[in-house]
Order: sequence, then structure tokens, then C-alpha cells
Amino acid sequence: MYSIAIDGPAGAGKSTIAKNIAKELGFIYIDTGAMYRAIALFLIRNNIPSDDEKKISEAVKKVNIEIEYVKGVQQVILNGENISELIRTNEVSKMASISSVYPDVRLKLVDIQRCLAEKVNVVMDGRDIGTYVLPEATLKIYLTASVEERAKRRYNEYVNIGVSANLENIKKEIEERDFRDMNRDFAPLKKAEDAVVVDSSFMNIEDVKDYVINKFDLVK
Ligand code: DC
Repeated sequence: MYSIAIDGPAGAGKSTIAKNIAKELGFIYIDTGAMYRAIALFLIRNNIPSDDEKKISEAVKKVNIEIEYVKGVQQVILNGENISELIRTNEVSKMASISSVYPDVRLKLVDIQRCLAEKVNVVMDGRDIGTYVLPEATLKIYLTASVEERAKRRYNEYVNIGVSANLENIKKEIEERDFRDMNRDFAPLKKAEDAVVVDSSFMNIEDVKDYVINKFDLVK
């Protein structure tokens, strides 16, 4: 099986790039962030405090997460309920970043992610795919961009859907999330030694996609 791992900080464009590559190569796109978001939603709904590791570990045992595809778009099913539309809020983003520091949360999801990659060719995006989930991935990409550029992109996404946003606040939230994701003990966000770094600050989606597909053609 082939696997392409795309890791990097929030807002670097991982999901857009990964989706496009998967489509072009006929691979399955797996958005691992959505799985951490699903657990975060469960914790929020059940009023479980983000600093209570014991309660979180217990909660994780009650969570069943499945991935389905509807017209090629990944859906996340939390205990039988399709919650894909409910996990893109700021509150869930923050809770996902905080709760994903706990090994019990990660191990549960890593198991699911590895099982998926055993059966089909995948493009998987996240924070620890090249370093931890799929250390033998066919190609590893570390996709990044300046924090200013990432904040600007998020800001534009909000404005485009008619949601008011504050650029400075978004930048601050992204910096906090980066810090947490990069500094946790267990499987933090970092570039795998053998990953190719792509800085998308001054590249458009098409250019990044072509660059990654060319790299893949060379190593497959
Ligand atoms: O990619 P995203 O913004 O949807 O991810 C939400 C959070 O989930 C992110 O801040 C950290 C966590 N996450 C993780 O720890 N490992 C992954 N492979 C994917 C996401």
C-alpha cells in the first residue's frame, strides 16, 4: 500500500492539499484532525474538564469513532451520530488541541488510523503521521507557512462564509495551538527526519499539489 503523510501546523493548508492529492491519485484522504475534534466534541458535550486526564481516559473508552465517505467526502461518526458539521468551531479546535496531549486519546485514534492505512492507499494529514502513525510512509511532507499567512487564510475563510473575525485574535489562537501541538510529551508536531519541507507561504494550492505529486512519483 502507498501512503503519503502530510504534517504541519494549523492553517498551513494540509487538508486542502491532501484532498487534492488524494483525488488526483485515486487515494483515500484521511483527516486525522477530525477524529481529535470528534473526541473534543464528546468531552465538551459531557462537561469533562480539559485538565482532568483521568476523566478523559474514562470518557475515551465510551467513544466509538468511525469514518465514512459520502461522495468522496470524509464523514466522522461519533457513537453512531454524524458530527462532521459540528466540529469546525473555535471551541472544538481549542479542546482538540488541549485533549490531544493525553496518550489515551492518541492511542485510541492512532489504532484506527493505522488500520485504515493497512487496507487502502491513503493521503493522511495531521501532526504526527510521519513521525508516529506511519513511520514507514511512502512519502512524508512537512507543510508549513508563516503564522501571518496562516492567520490571514483563516480570517478570509471566516469572512467568506459571513462570520465576523479578528485577525489579531486568530493569530494569537494559532500561535497557542502551535505551541501546544509542538510541545506535548507524546507524539508532538515535528518534522520527521526524512520529511520534505514545503513552505506554502508564497505557493498556491496547485503548485504545492504538483510539487508533492512529483516527489511521490520519484519515491513510489
Ligand atoms: O488539523 P486540525 O486543526 O483539525 O487538528 C485539531 C487538533 O487535533 C490539533 O490542534 C492537534 C490535534 N491533532 C493531533 O494532535 N494529531 C493529529 N494527527 C491531528 C490533529
